[in-house]
Amino acid sequence: MSILVTNVVESFKKQWSIEPQTIAAAPGRVNLIGEHTDYTGGFVLPAAIDREIVLAAARVPGKTISGYSIDFDEEASCETGNYDPGYPSGWFRYVMGVLSELEKSDRTVGGFRFAVGGNVPIGSGLSSSAAIEMATLTAMEGLMGFRMDDVQAALLCQRAENGFVGMNCGIMDQYISRTGKKDHAVLIDCTDLSHRMIPINTPGFSWLVIDSKKKRGLVDSEYNRRRTECEEGAQCARAAFPGRNIRGLRNIDVADLPLMEASCTRTVFKRVRHIVTENSRVMETVNALKAGDTGMVGRCLYGSHASLRDDFEVSCEELDTLVDILSGVEGVSGARLTGAGFGGCVIAFLKESAEKAVEEAVSEQYHPKSLPKGTRADIWPITISDGARIIRN
Ligand code: GLA
Repeated sequence: MSILVTNVVESFKKQWSIEPQTIAAAPGRVNLIGEHTDYTGGFVLPAAIDREIVLAAARVPGKTISGYSIDFDEEASCETGNYDPGYPSGWFRYVMGVLSELEKSDRTVGGFRFAVGGNVPIGSGLSSSAAIEMATLTAMEGLMGFRMDDVQAALLCQRAENGFVGMNCGIMDQYISRTGKKDHAVLIDCTDLSHRMIPINTPGFSWLVIDSKKKRGLVDSEYNRRRTECEEGAQCARAAFPGRNIRGLRNIDVADLPLMEASCTRTVFKRVRHIVTENSRVMETVNALKAGDTGMVGRCLYGSHASLRDDFEVSCEELDTLVDILSGVEGVSGARLTGAGFGGCVIAFLKESAEKAVEEAVSEQYHPKSLPKGTRADIWPITISDGARIIRN
């Protein structure tokens, strides 16, 4: 058992003076490439990481659900069937969102107690929210004795986040938290929700996460605005190509861009150009990974960052600074922001032999003016891991 699992089990026992029946875990993620494409029906290439949320639970008689969060050192409770989206503890709202969706699909949740804890950094764009949703669902599967189809499980957690928590996210984070596989990225087609496992096997190269320490801000309002602009883009495409069956921006190719430029506003055109070129960068990355073309993987990452910065406008000074620093280190193939943007983390793809030089360069050159003096970026290698699992039942 990992230290985290032991810690959650011990906290459970201390808090509730009983033994847990089910222990479940679900990981956070990095997205290698394919950013902001999920809600336009595009392609994404995320991977689950070895940072996760663990939830231990045991049934109790009655209707009360009581939980304890180790990370917030806080207790919260509610009655089955009575879930309040305005509940003050954010972490408990994610749990309630999942329970409420389960009840809508006729899975009646009885009383239970739980403890939850994790090591996915919060607010860093590594999807701690999808991890707590998926850990909750997986623990309920164990406790109540059923197993959902993976896509349905991801959709249920997405509905919990959209409808209950009120964040209008796409499907990527919940999908990867469920289906992630050790040493593989998952190529998800967000139109038909199918996926393909892509082995990550580039000997001598590694992936790093660099946490800028800038907490994501503005993300809800700007995220929703981008979604609306993309929908406008799809409308423009329908008007520009009346003979074609355009379900979404996925059906627009790079070759269509000149005509699109003439038919929508400058801002909408830039959003469309990001989505269309990003979809093709995802496929190029997949092919380059297959062929072991590390230079091409790196170019796609840099291309993605530039497009997110200039066309989609979801980067920020701290993330741009980190990518600039990384691009100056010999042996770094590519780097980009990962997740929704406006803060959070950068990922880099590099020769293993360049890891030390990256650490030195970041520690010497990354001194963001916007953050408290002495703030340092955290750097750690990505270990691509399995998706949600039941540890004990
Ligand atoms: C957040 C959302 C995802 C996705 C990314 C951007 O992580 O939860 O659905 O849209 O932003 O790629």
